Amino acid sequence: MYRLADFGIALIGLFTTAAAACAQTQTDEIARGERLFRACAACHSLEPDRNMTGPSLSGLWNRKAGSLPNFDRYSAALASSGVIWNDTSLDRWIADPQHFIPGNTMTFPGIKGARERAALLAFLKEATQPGRARAATAQRDHQMGGMMGMIGTGSVPNLKTLEPGERVQQITHCRDTYRVTTADGNTRAFWERNLRFKTDASDDGPQKGAPAIVAAGMMGDRADVIFAGPEEISGFIAAGC
Ligand code: HEC
Repeated sequence: MYRLADFGIALIGLFTTAAAACAQTQTDEIARGERLFRACAACHSLEPDRNMTGPSLSGLWNRKAGSLPNFDRYSAALASSGVIWNDTSLDRWIADPQHFIPGNTMTFPGIKGARERAALLAFLKEATQPGRARAATAQRDHQMGGMMGMIGTGSVPNLKTLEPGERVQQITHCRDTYRVTTADGNTRAFWERNLRFKTDASDDGPQKGAPAIVAAGMMGDRADVIFAGPEEISGFIAAGC
């Protein structure tokens, strides 16, 4: 009798250890997947309705490929593929996007390792469920830390409220030089090839008439001026030395 009880307790102990080990492995895998997602975060948000270079991945499982109504840049190839996103199709897509759906416009070479893909999908499956807190984390880490953000991969800070040093008041152009004056009274000169003009009409973009200057590149010699819309651009730039 004693022996049977001992055996039972030992067995419970064994199960608990195995279950804990299993949960640990799964957590490790999701954490690994979250790190791998940094390769995607330059172009994809996990937040609903937040499109960047690529469409939001929120609610991805069981979604029809190319079907987000508010993403305007799907290729015909993806939109007409008939693919439904699930474990199998996503694994093939991530392994080699051009092979799986030829002619799509996602410029990503693919992840060759099957275990890496499994980890990434384990993370994504959890993080793409709408309302997942974890979703925002990888994105934020990416935007704050990575060099990718600095290089300018489409993830920009919200520009609705700006520090005076970020708010552009005037731009002049003289020979090969732009001079940008910000609301704090400073003027910086840029070689004309080092200043880019961009627009952002989304909720992250600047207010009308208040374009923002954002550092670009890593050498400190480049910047983007981001306007609320294209109609503002030339009116802001005065010719004059
Ligand atoms: C350089 C930018 C870029 C990177 C990096 C990138 N994607 Fe994409 N992705 C896109 C674009 C653009 C599209 C739309 C392609 C089209 O319409 O042909 C897309 C489409 C997708 C789709 C289809 C979504 C839908 O609504 O049908 C999925 C899923 C996806 N990407 C997952 C990923 C994953 C996972 C990674 C990282 C392993 C990744 N992407 C990396 C730009 C990118």
